[in-house]
Amino acid sequence: MKPKDLMSLAEEAREASYSPYSKFAVGAALLTKSGRVVLGCNVENSSFGLACCAERTAIFKAVSEGEREFLAIAVTAGKGHGAAPCGACRQVLHEFSPEMWVYFHDDDGAIVRKRVNALLSNGFRLRSRGGKK
Ligand code: THU
Repeated sequence: MKPKDLMSLAEEAREASYSPYSKFAVGAALLTKSGRVVLGCNVENSSFGLACCAERTAIFKAVSEGEREFLAIAVTAGKGHGAAPCGACRQVLHEFSPEMWVYFHDDDGAIVRKRVNALLSNGFRLRSRGGKK
């Protein structure tokens, strides 16, 4: 699927955004390796710190439905509005598919394509520390 097509689906996902506090609606469309597209939007709360970003909504929906490998995610805060994923979302994307593509708009409205492992270098991974505790 082309970046602009995945971005159109992210625009549609944005319509469901629940963002009465920030008034900053974000949509995401996540393409799985199996060929599905899973949508997400940001979901805020009157206890502000509980807001969940659009990207994490999409990833958590997808993983809870059995998907663990992803090819790409498109993120938008409105036509031509830049919404590069926040650091927390980069780490969550990295957990499953560090090489997946991330599409978002630059300040001129063009679609930027970056791999998660370029947006988050040396992402955290839990590894054995040589077999000895
Ligand atoms: N937000 C996202 O949905 N994705 C991001 O990558 C950054 C921020 C949301 C969270 C909050 O609902 C609103 O944007 C303002 O921060």
